[in-house]
Amino acid sequence: MHDKHQQFFDELAEEWDLRFTAEDLERLQRVVDKISIDSGMDILDLGCGTGILFDMLRRRVGKDGSVTGVDFSIEMALKAHRNFPFPNVNVVDADAIMLPFADDTFDMAFAFAAFPHFSDQQRAVSETHRVLRPKARFYILHLQSSKEVSEIHHREGGVLEHDVIPSHDDLRAMFNSQKFSDVKIEDHPGLFLLSAVNNA
Ligand SMILES: C[S@@+](CC[C@H](N)C(=O)[O-])C[C@H]1O[C@@H](n2cnc3c(N)ncnc32)[C@H](O)[C@@H]1O
Repeated sequence: MHDKHQQFFDELAEEWDLRFTAEDLERLQRVVDKISIDSGMDILDLGCGTGILFDMLRRRVGKDGSVTGVDFSIEMALKAHRNFPFPNVNVVDADAIMLPFADDTFDMAFAFAAFPHFSDQQRAVSETHRVLRPKARFYILHLQSSKEVSEIHHREGGVLEHDVIPSHDDLRAMFNSQKFSDVKIEDHPGLFLLSAVNNA
């Protein structure tokens, strides 16, 4: 199925990297630097786009680890693959609500600027839980607060108009129902960061 979101992101793929300023990248790097990532980890990047997180992650996991980006826009996935042709980076064209991976495959997952766009967020959380190993963390990250994300999408309109980060209560319910624990949410101007542990 090729839906309107896929088409929208396909059309943005070529110019996507230009959206990030040097300051955005520095802020992103600072957030990622604070996350405990060990060499040898296998990390999943959901809605990876053109792979903006890949370099920051692949350097941390080293040659014994891996970064696997998933994007349902074939143009984004192809661009990500062209941008980062490294042995410890894989890109898969797939939907976050139906992940083509075995249970217990990854040590960590990220959804950077992607979660609001998932057509079935509950299912994406459930799928992520399935593919994460016990005690692995899932991070949902934005360089804006949830309110700022909603405002940006509302201003953009079209297919993005109603793409939001759910309320904190709804997120906690969503994660707790999927056996995630230790759900922590930071949400203030310039940052949204949820982290939760797979308590399988
Ligand atoms: C706003 S972009 C962010 C891309 C990248 N994470 C970044 O920050 O540069 C959102 C990405 O999520 C992808 N996406 C949206 N819904 C998806 C889904 N259900 N499964 C996989 N990817 C999805 C889009 O194709 C798009 O590349």
